Parts: sequence; C-alpha cells; structure tokens
Amino acid sequence: MPESPPRDYSPVMAIPRSREAQEQFDRVAPGFFSSPLSYFETHGAGLVSAAGVKSGDRVLDLACGAGSASIPAASIVGRSGKLVGIDISRGMLDVAARRARTEGFHWAEFHQRPVEELDLEERFDVALCGFAVHHFDDQTTVPRVMARHLEPGGRWAFSLWAEGSSEPHRTVFNRLIRELRPDLAAAPGRSGPQGRAAIERLAHESGLSTRAIELAEVDHVLDNFDDYWHYVKTSGGRSLLTRVSEDEAQRIRDGLQAAIAPHLDSQGRLTLCMDALYVTGLR
Ligand SMILES: C[S@@+](CC[C@H](N)C(=O)[O-])C[C@H]1O[C@@H](n2cnc3c(N)ncnc32)[C@H](O)[C@@H]1O
Repeated sequence: MPESPPRDYSPVMAIPRSREAQEQFDRVAPGFFSSPLSYFETHGAGLVSAAGVKSGDRVLDLACGAGSASIPAASIVGRSGKLVGIDISRGMLDVAARRARTEGFHWAEFHQRPVEELDLEERFDVALCGFAVHHFDDQTTVPRVMARHLEPGGRWAFSLWAEGSSEPHRTVFNRLIRELRPDLAAAPGRSGPQGRAAIERLAHESGLSTRAIELAEVDHVLDNFDDYWHYVKTSGGRSLLTRVSEDEAQRIRDGLQAAIAPHLDSQGRLTLCMDALYVTGLR
C-alpha cells in the first residue's frame, strides 16, 4: 500500500472524547443498527474474517458498539468459546446485548467500561476493534489494551476508514458547513494513523506485530434522501449536529438535499464510498 499524504480530516468528522462520545453514541444508538448504516455490519463481519476467528476462541471486542463484529464473532466461536464486548455507551451495548440474546449467544457478554482503563485480568485468543482507534487522544490506547489482554501469539484486528471514504458526502457536507457555520468548520479535526508506516509503528510501539493491511472496498447504497439524512444524523454528521440548534439542523438538511442532488442516480439513490482498512497481526 503506498504511503498516503496526510488527510484533511474535516472538523465535521471530529469525534469528541469519553463523556461526550458516550452521550453522543447513547443518543444515536437506537438508529445505529439499521440499513442506512449497514456498512458497519459488512465491515464487522469482514474484520472477524480477517482476524481468523474460529470455533472455541475467546474474543475481546473493544468499543464494540451495536455489535457489528461481536455478533458474527460470537456466532463463530460458539458455546465452547467466549465473546466479551466493551463500550462506553450503554445505549450501544443494549443493542448489542439484545442481538446476542435474540440469537441465543449466551457465551457473549457486554460491559460498559472506558477502553482506556480496561484491565480484565483475563487473556484472550483474539482482540478486535472496529473504527474506534481514532477516538482516543493517545492512539496507542487500543493497541496497548489489546496487547494487555492477548495471549502470547494471540491475533488482533482493527479497522480504519480508508482514504476517500464517506465521499461524496464528506466534500458536500463540509462545503455546506463552511457556508452556514464557518465557526464550526474551523474547529480542529482528528484522524487515525495515516499510511502503512504510521500504522505499523503504532502497533509496534504497543507491543504488537502487524501481519497485513488489507483494503476492503464497500460501495454503500442509500435508497433515498431520508436514508441519507439518517446516515448524516447517526454517523457522517453526528458530531457536528449536536452543536447546532434544531432550526440550523433543518437548514443543513435543506441545504444538503439541494447540494447532494447532482450525485444521485436516476432513481434518487446515493452511493457512498465506505472503504476501510483491516489491520491484522499477532501479539
Ligand atoms: C464508530 S462506533 C464503532 C462501533 C463498532 N466497533 C463497529 O465497528 O460497528 C465507535 C464506538 O466507540 C465507542 N467508544 C468511544 N469512545 C470510547 C471509550 N473511551 N471507551 C469505550 N468505547 C468508546 C462508542 O461508544 C461507539 O460505540
């Protein structure tokens, strides 16, 4: 994979830390496990496969959210294995736990904990983390917590958004916010590690060795503007929309409807690039 230049990670994608993240994800949790956000499910299953989860494994899923990786992992490990999901948001955990109950996966358990303080005094065969490495000021947090909980030789996998993901939404949305609320557009943004060397360094500093960095290409189709707006509120504009009034949110919605129109196909559908990187390795 070629080294990519630093991304202009836009302020509208910035993710606040701990308490704010908790409130934000509690708020969006009821709408998270839904078809407009089904790319999380696609990538969750992809990450489990990239990690080589197998029957009988003990699996730890950090920042597990609504269970996009936890549920397929629990399905594979079966009753002779174990799945432990950790997240800061009660709302997200409730969704994950309900899904596990519905499937009869009684070997899956979910705990509300901040990842940065996690010490379960237990070792796992596999550690997973979907799209959350960039949620921490110190980006070694997730790999360090993985290293602390893995058996020697244990497998790990985390996913990151790839270059170009969320387009064309990202460009359209950022342009609109710069017009409507330049003060918010000026806030500093955050991003995950950029490029192969930075990713490998991050893992290495945390006591992990990287085996592969795999590009997983996903074109995600949103059937109509309502689905697109659901995506914006729940994922692509989640952070920014907590900072504006209801009136402003309505103006953003109206502006977005006009601005995204040139990107719709003849049936009014919008295709988003939701490419990700699956980073895998051993402890
Ligand atoms: C983008 S979601 C990804 C969820 C899931 N891993 C997936 O791929 O579908 C990020 C998750 O990180 C969780 N999170 C954010 N900060 C956290 C922290 N400090 N400790 C634990 N979980 C955290 C959020 O509550 C949210 O569920």
